Amino acid sequence: MFKNRDIVSIRDFSRKEVDHLLKTAQKIEKTPENKLKILSGKIMGTLFFEPSTRTRLSFEVAMKKLGGEVVGFSEPALTSIEKGETLADTVRVVENYVDVIVLRHPLEGSARMAADYASVPIINAGSGAEEHPTQAFLDLYTIFKEKGRIDGLNIGILGDLRYGRTVHSLTYALSLYDDIMLYLISPPQLRMRKEVLETVKEKIRFKETSKIEEVLPELDVLYVTRIQKERFPDPAEYQKVKGAYKITLSTLEKAKKDLILMHPLPRVDEVDPEVDQTNHAIYFKQVRYGVITRMALLALVLGVL
Ligand code: CP
Repeated sequence: MFKNRDIVSIRDFSRKEVDHLLKTAQKIEKTPENKLKILSGKIMGTLFFEPSTRTRLSFEVAMKKLGGEVVGFSEPALTSIEKGETLADTVRVVENYVDVIVLRHPLEGSARMAADYASVPIINAGSGAEEHPTQAFLDLYTIFKEKGRIDGLNIGILGDLRYGRTVHSLTYALSLYDDIMLYLISPPQLRMRKEVLETVKEKIRFKETSKIEEVLPELDVLYVTRIQKERFPDPAEYQKVKGAYKITLSTLEKAKKDLILMHPLPRVDEVDPEVDQTNHAIYFKQVRYGVITRMALLALVLGVL
């Protein structure tokens, strides 16, 4: 199902395949660490052309926990890209050193192009504002672990739905599930991209709104994202929406008791740190689920599970 596959877009995967990944993650979570050295002798290459804390480190930790090795870069300025080497050539060189490549790049379409050139699997760790499929996998695993199911939930996605790649992948992913009501909450300027809505409109019920307070009491899951300042073509446009929403203790007064509050992180100012102490906040647990999900993904892509 996953062996030797590129992980470029969540749209390339069926419900059955995603469920298989989540079940594999569950098995990995239950297995003692000393029995998990199943990628011994394998090498993962990390090519990060954009900043990252979680995605790069969690892939590295996942690979190491599975007994594998890691090479790569997170400062392209120190590589031959600085001399003018193309992404296509970089990938065709690195594939000679490694068994799988994890790529983060600012350009939409970069992961697809890299996959066209590479003979080893390419895992998209974020392609511009387009997609972040492995974040969606870990988001689904988090919802499944915390709510016991994904089908039938009322899910709110709040924030920058225009430039946020995690919310694009998550929306595609949720459209694979049954009977979900999706609330897309954002300032008018940051609404979900039309191409995403066109793709999912026959598969999932959704409502767009700019008022969190109108939908909050309905929600089982609230997924908050920061405004992606770095992706605005015009800084003046960013200034107009900066600080447009913030989750505080008082916002959550009308939430269901068992609402889970997720965030792909990094957080800037959209979730008040005072919320961290509530039972709703699971964004740091979500980080741990990320390692488990990426372990499952690497094991499946490299064909050992
Ligand atoms: N969630 C996420 O992609 O975080 P990083 O940018 O730190 O990898």
